[in-house]
Amino acid sequence: MKMAKRLNEFEAYLGTAMNLILTRMKAEGKDVINLGLGDPDVTPPEHMRKTLADACYDEGSHHYPSFYSPMPLKEAITDWYKQRFGVVCDPETEVLPLLGSADGLFHIHTCLLDVGDTAFVPDPCYPAYVAGVKIAGGVVEPVPLLKENGFLPDLEAIDPKVAQRAQMIWVNYPNNPTSAHATIEFYKDLVDWAYKYDVAVVSDNPYSEVCFDGYCAPSFLNVDGAKEVGVEFNSLSKAYNACGWRTVMLLGNKDIVAGMAKIKSHSDRGMFYPLQVAATAALKVATDFMEPRNEMYKERRDVVVNGLSDIGIDVQNPKATFYVWASLPEGVINSKEWCFKILDEIAVWMIPGSMYGKYGEGFFRIALTHPVERLSEAMERMKKYLS
Ligand SMILES: Cc1ncc(COP(=O)(O)O)c(C=O)c1O
Repeated sequence: MKMAKRLNEFEAYLGTAMNLILTRMKAEGKDVINLGLGDPDVTPPEHMRKTLADACYDEGSHHYPSFYSPMPLKEAITDWYKQRFGVVCDPETEVLPLLGSADGLFHIHTCLLDVGDTAFVPDPCYPAYVAGVKIAGGVVEPVPLLKENGFLPDLEAIDPKVAQRAQMIWVNYPNNPTSAHATIEFYKDLVDWAYKYDVAVVSDNPYSEVCFDGYCAPSFLNVDGAKEVGVEFNSLSKAYNACGWRTVMLLGNKDIVAGMAKIKSHSDRGMFYPLQVAATAALKVATDFMEPRNEMYKERRDVVVNGLSDIGIDVQNPKATFYVWASLPEGVINSKEWCFKILDEIAVWMIPGSMYGKYGEGFFRIALTHPVERLSEAMERMKKYLS
């Protein structure tokens, strides 16, 4: 059987391979601490789970759903964006619910790229951007995210000739893996740059509700004219501790929203109706649970940032996301080798920076999705091992 050549263009999602290794280690009796997984260890609020369960008993719930007709979820998304960010969208033409950002960011490449078209992709980045561009037959043009620039793209450093032929650029703030955040000034510059070169901006904003130290993440759509040049994904996964629900929103540019709706009319039939009902209800209810949840992440962040600093590791102190991005210890140059060695020796798994791109080399990422005791235990093991 002949398989498509495009399969050789990208790697399988890192988490899939790692799960197999970590499950085998656990079966061998090792007390593995998996600091790799960006999946909250807390559950969605009670009212969300109850609404979801109740909606499953509605006789009409189990047919094909529809995402074409005006529906309460689109209106709830529109209201949530207005209330949270002050961004006004038309629920009919500028909003589309999706089955996870992963679904959206995979399909958006088929919407924006023809074979051979160029896409600017941050490096390091969430790996699905690279895979998505390649599956669509596009060409990845890496945009380095450097520590000296606060892990923001240097738009002026982008070659104007490449910008003129590019179709799209990815941005993701608060950022995975670096946990950096963007200011509204950055988004203003980005919108101006996108107009100048006629490049579509795709903003991936799933960590907008995971902020601390008084920081509140903006939306790319906050900037006047942003809807003319781009779209934004936001997700209930991290905001509502609901990764498994696969409930996501796309907002912004009408043409991109219409293109995505067309593609997705073939690739799926919309979101399972009980999920629509529960997500709609969730977006209407007060988000009081987020503040103590974010306090919890902040406490965990402090344990990890202090723990790593104590052993002499240079670490970013994030104001958002549940990730800590740290430099490799002095003298270590290969993040992949080092992280696998740590896994082997002390059963702590952290993600090598190089797995997020060439410019991720020299760093590693820790996810704060474990209780403080477990994170402290991981820091203790690291301390013993590295001294
Ligand atoms: C930057 C980024 N985008 C998208 C996703 C996927 O989110 P979702 O659960 O909405 O598919 C993740 C998940 O970790 C992420 O870190």
